[in-house]
Amino acid sequence: MSCADPFCLPPDSHLGIDLPAMIILEETMTLFPELATADRMELHVAHDRQTGLKALIGVHDTRLGPAIGGCRVYPYATEQDAIHDVCRLARGMTSKAALAGLPHGGGKAVIWGDPRDIPDRRALFHAFGRFVETLGGRYLTSADSGTSSGDLDLIREVTRNVLGSSRELGGSGDPSPFTALGVRRGIEAVAEVVLGRRDLEGLVVAIQGVGHVGANLARELHALGCRLIIADVDAARVAEVVEATGASVVSVEEIPGVECDIYAPCALGGAISDATIDRLRCRAVAGNRIFGII
Ligand SMILES: NC(=O)c1ccc[n+]([C@@H]2O[C@H](COP(=O)([O-])OP(=O)(O)OC[C@H]3O[C@@H](n4cnc5c(N)ncnc54)[C@H](O)[C@@H]3O)[C@@H](O)[C@H]2O)c1
Repeated sequence: MSCADPFCLPPDSHLGIDLPAMIILEETMTLFPELATADRMELHVAHDRQTGLKALIGVHDTRLGPAIGGCRVYPYATEQDAIHDVCRLARGMTSKAALAGLPHGGGKAVIWGDPRDIPDRRALFHAFGRFVETLGGRYLTSADSGTSSGDLDLIREVTRNVLGSSRELGGSGDPSPFTALGVRRGIEAVAEVVLGRRDLEGLVVAIQGVGHVGANLARELHALGCRLIIADVDAARVAEVVEATGASVVSVEEIPGVECDIYAPCALGGAISDATIDRLRCRAVAGNRIFGII
């Protein structure tokens, strides 16, 4: 039997996931305590033998609608770090979606691996897309650190449950400029309330992490007349932003302690911690990744 719908999976495909290789985690020392940090939390786990995909999807709350949240690709040090990250990010998405008045709940996905070392991106994101498809629309994925619109386009080839694929394919396009705009609006609000400023001209902003979001933010703030100080572990990204904005560069270790008006963490989290809080020499903190273990 065949199906004209390109998203229809063959009936004998086990929903396209290599089911014998799918790992459903049994109770472990740390899994249920992690899940118990929220009133409700589901964790879905998949391993695809062919591509090596190791992925987790956390669905936190679907009372307002299908859970939304991006897919992060990150080389976690341990399985526990991946579980912790997906759960805390899914919980955060529930609050973000509700605060924005969206008919959506919160979810998140993580793929355990180095985003710069994926031998066959198409195969990996197809496997991930099939995993998303098994949730039947209860979770809609999108971009996050380590994924781009191109990856979302690949996911879209196997499931409709993805947001932010490219406009040419009928999607809403790369979401990171909008994320950066949200951070800029937050900085403008902080500047007005804390610094008594109606514009940002001349303010010194220190951005930690100049990936998709941080680089877009840097360009926006540069156009508004801010002086920028940046830090990133990726020298190539730093070089691009310096070329576009004339930003000064400091090391990742130095950036929390640089003297500035606003410190804008835009990396992967954990910027404000017991180790950094006493070193801050900014007048306000306003970014999109401030707390968290990584
Ligand atoms: N892309 C989006 O639309 C989007 C949407 C919502 C939230 N976010 C969040 O925004 C943050 C950034 O996302 P992104 O898409 O720009 O990711 P990205 O991977 O493109 O960029 C993250 C950057 O942070 C750098 N980095 C990692 N560790 C660092 C450290 N300790 N200090 C300084 N830099 C470090 C990386 O090298 C990279 O350049 C993530 O936490 C993500 O969850 C992104």
